[in-house]
Amino acid sequence: MSARVGLIHRFLDRLPFEADDPIVTLQEGSTPLVHAAWISERVGAEVFLKIEGANPTGSFKDRGMCCAVTQAVKEGSEAVICASTGNTAASAAAYAARAGLRGAVIVPDGKIATGKLAQALMHGARVIALRGNFDQALELVRELTDKHPIALVNSVNPYRIAGQKTAAFEIVEELGGIDALCIPVGNAGNITAYWAGFVEAGNAPRLFGFQAAGAAPLVSGVRVEKPETVASAIRIGNPARWEEAMTAMTQSSGRIAAVTDEEILDAYRLLAAREGVFCEPASAASVAGLLKFGAQGAERIACVLTGHGHKDPQTALEQSGSVLPCEPTIGAVEEAVLG
Ligand code: F0G
Repeated sequence: MSARVGLIHRFLDRLPFEADDPIVTLQEGSTPLVHAAWISERVGAEVFLKIEGANPTGSFKDRGMCCAVTQAVKEGSEAVICASTGNTAASAAAYAARAGLRGAVIVPDGKIATGKLAQALMHGARVIALRGNFDQALELVRELTDKHPIALVNSVNPYRIAGQKTAAFEIVEELGGIDALCIPVGNAGNITAYWAGFVEAGNAPRLFGFQAAGAAPLVSGVRVEKPETVASAIRIGNPARWEEAMTAMTQSSGRIAAVTDEEILDAYRLLAAREGVFCEPASAASVAGLLKFGAQGAERIACVLTGHGHKDPQTALEQSGSVLPCEPTIGAVEEAVLG
């Protein structure tokens, strides 16, 4: 195997693994960092999009999951489990399949996007639809893994954080540092990981974290019993990494703020229509926040687009134009194309 396949090999010197560990990889990481001309112009700063939807299962979770599942294999686990709003489930299911482990995922019934559900099922995970929300699911899997020898691969697992901090390494390597990072916040694992990564890489951008207004406990300071938002990935009312996220905010002189569903969907559509980048609604919260609050003095900014637009085809179809029906004649096609 060549030296630089996958995240763990690329950053072996900065991750808690050895080259001869049983590394489970789908060649995650090394995602595009794309200049966003239209957004840059709008906010008067140089803005880049970190396209985490380009990871193998379509979200940033793969960075953490390759590490968490590798560690699970190392420890001799036979099964992994997570609570999830969808992406963690898809990623855990894929890496578990690859490692030959059993996988179980607990998701809020009816509240995860279709693409994510299809992935988890295709990879052969046991998919459990909880009649409850993500916060309840996480509480229950924590209790379950206290009682049974199953590896918990939510971002409460430190190997998840170790893997996800590599996205910050990549940004610093590519741009030599940034002034601000805009990032959607749900369970607050990713913002915690980015901060650890930036500190380790010797860059200290301000962290601007954005939550959906209907699921913004870090903004209000109180847990939200019934979180609601169109951005189902971040429909979370009691983030597991609450303290760490607040520490990252304070240490980076950053800020955590709320964006409405309407603002999220505006950013979601304009990313697709103006920048040619199709992300899922939760991911667009980063850009929605940047457009709402402005660059706040930062000259070079990265926005994390956490998951691919294919994850949630239903919301995409609801938010876009309709198709044009057409008879199979040249006249009808001419009318449809040029009319
Ligand atoms: N964006 C997407 C697309 C996500 O799937 C998530 C979290 C986040 C942002 C927020 O990241 O939780 O580290 O603050 N998804 C988790 C899941 C909760 O189960 O897939 P966070």
